[in-house]
Amino acid sequence: MRIADFALERYFARWEFAVEHLLCASDVQAYPMGDLLALADDESRALWDGLTLGYTESTGHQLLRHEIASLYAGLEADDVLVFAGAEEGIFCLVNVLLEPGDHAVVTWPGYQSLYEIARATGADVTLHELREAADWRLDLDLLRSQVAPATKLIVVNAPHNPTGMLPDRATFDGLVAIAEDVGAYLLMDEVYRFLEFDAADRLPAGAEVLDRGVSLGVMSKSFAMAGLRIGWLATRDRSLLARCAAFKDYTTICASAPSEILALIGLRGREAVLDRSRGIVEANLARLDAFFDAWPDRFAWVRPRAGSVGFPRLTVPGVGIDDWAAGLVEAEGVLLLPGSQFGFGGNHFRLGFGRTDLREALERLEAHASATLR
Ligand SMILES: Cc1ncc(COP(=O)(O)O)c(C=O)c1O
Repeated sequence: MRIADFALERYFARWEFAVEHLLCASDVQAYPMGDLLALADDESRALWDGLTLGYTESTGHQLLRHEIASLYAGLEADDVLVFAGAEEGIFCLVNVLLEPGDHAVVTWPGYQSLYEIARATGADVTLHELREAADWRLDLDLLRSQVAPATKLIVVNAPHNPTGMLPDRATFDGLVAIAEDVGAYLLMDEVYRFLEFDAADRLPAGAEVLDRGVSLGVMSKSFAMAGLRIGWLATRDRSLLARCAAFKDYTTICASAPSEILALIGLRGREAVLDRSRGIVEANLARLDAFFDAWPDRFAWVRPRAGSVGFPRLTVPGVGIDDWAAGLVEAEGVLLLPGSQFGFGGNHFRLGFGRTDLREALERLEAHASATLR
């Protein structure tokens, strides 16, 4: 298999651990291990204390799968397959589903593996482009024109990276209807689910609404535990899940034993975990609102509806975001992610607002803006 470089990951490989402030990270400030263990109930604490470091059950620890299933109405532990992060789930699912001659439609700009792996299978991939002028909303008319009898898979990431887009309920229902009409699988990448700024906006999960609906989840984003590398696919299509499990025998075979128990503790304690994440994100959003209010003629900003990232645009004529971001990191040690890393033009950049150093990072960005954009 030949696959193009993952531009964003290569960019992070260069910068992530070399800068003072990551103002473009997509995850929430990592949960401290001590705080996590303090959330353990008696059963999970005993599992942690008595842990031995052998191989684990390849589908995922039974209690963990049970806990993940409880995130979805009507799903059971056997409707869940555990992976080493969401990334592995995408890799296995797309490889199992697609082959040359198949067609997939994927939202874009977006997380590159959602379309790059599909391309690497030899399938034909159509990008469903989101536009700032439409507040990054899904365009159901466009989507209807993009699907065809060969369409095997539709991939939508919502809440969306990098724009913070979240469809309203009517649009979501329309999306599900299109997938159903064409007989395609619908992969909903829901790794930012539970970070809706208004809880009433939370959508049903893909796995809940469609037999061929697949929900992708992970501990990395809303649950603030990227270092666990625990993700999952959830679907009521158990034969599909069985094929993914067989494919996983060639990737990781099974998940990390300590991570499974820690993820179990995190999910059982999810009320506290998610409250903390939402608190960080909300406080940071207020700071971003103030910043963009103060710079209306230098930056354009479609306020996200959910998640921990947004996709503003630098609007100063003659100033390109790649150069400006390079100057910012050199002068202030603050990292942005230019839209070019998504292959997306137009002077956009990803802002992450899940980290607790955002106030200082934003002050430094503002100092650089004052020095270069006035
Ligand atoms: C939309 C989306 N899907 C999947 C992933 C992969 O998550 P993980 O790195 O935890 O495997 C990411 C990570 O940035 C993401 O933003």
